[in-house]
Amino acid sequence: CHGSVRICCSPSPNIAMTWKSRMPELTVSLGQRSYPIRIADGLLETAAGLPVTGPCLIVTDDNVGPLYAERLKQAIGRSECPLWQMPAGEPEKNLGRFAELLQAMAAQGMSRNATVLALGGGVIGDLAGFAAACYMRGIAFIQIPTSLLAMVDSSVGGKTGINHPLGKNMVGAFYQPHRVICDLDTLQTLPSRELSAGLAEIIKYGPIADTVFLDWIEANLPDLLARAPKALAHAVRRSCEIKAWVVAQDEREAGLRAILNFGHTFGHAIEAGM
Ligand code: GLY
Repeated sequence: CHGSVRICCSPSPNIAMTWKSRMPELTVSLGQRSYPIRIADGLLETAAGLPVTGPCLIVTDDNVGPLYAERLKQAIGRSECPLWQMPAGEPEKNLGRFAELLQAMAAQGMSRNATVLALGGGVIGDLAGFAAACYMRGIAFIQIPTSLLAMVDSSVGGKTGINHPLGKNMVGAFYQPHRVICDLDTLQTLPSRELSAGLAEIIKYGPIADTVFLDWIEANLPDLLARAPKALAHAVRRSCEIKAWVVAQDEREAGLRAILNFGHTFGHAIEAGM
């Protein structure tokens, strides 16, 4: 085994263990910056894993906010938690929105003990995470991904940032969240195109890390497309396990982590041309 097939041939014992035990909570193991990923239905209803102390700010967009922001406030027991909502879409992940968000955080008087809750897809997670990384040199943030793509990729691993006119994700920081909360119920309201985007990323984990998983995806694709909760739970959990394992080996992409970018170069080029 060598290079890109190394994980496939020699799976981490941790991955094998969690895979078998189907633990509802995974860990991204990064020493003092380790954090849990919780994956289940109804996490926004039950508040499981969501205690938030100190000042907070929910960052979201105008697709997700109307659906889930109030539920999140109830879940954390903080009806007074302010909401910062921006228009949805990749073009919004820009310097102007970043400046607006920092302005809102300062205007709220947020202090070092404040927490940013990133409620949405990858655009929101990247922007809110980068703002959390920069504000007062770094405050806590929690990823609450509501898209399948964000659950299996951008919410895990600490890549935060914004786009620059000269390049995607050109300005950013490696900054890990304090936890990741994947409420699988939110996938039921996801547009079909967004579901497909997430499934493409999930499929990718097969060739890069686990051919058994690839076979499973192939056999269960109809269930995944039909949003069967059990199938989605399994796909998200296994994808997060693989990503967490890779990130734990190479947090800042000195080598191995680049394997997670497989396909992204083409994807970014197509996106730029659209
Ligand atoms: N999206 C690729 C990575 O997190 O490294």
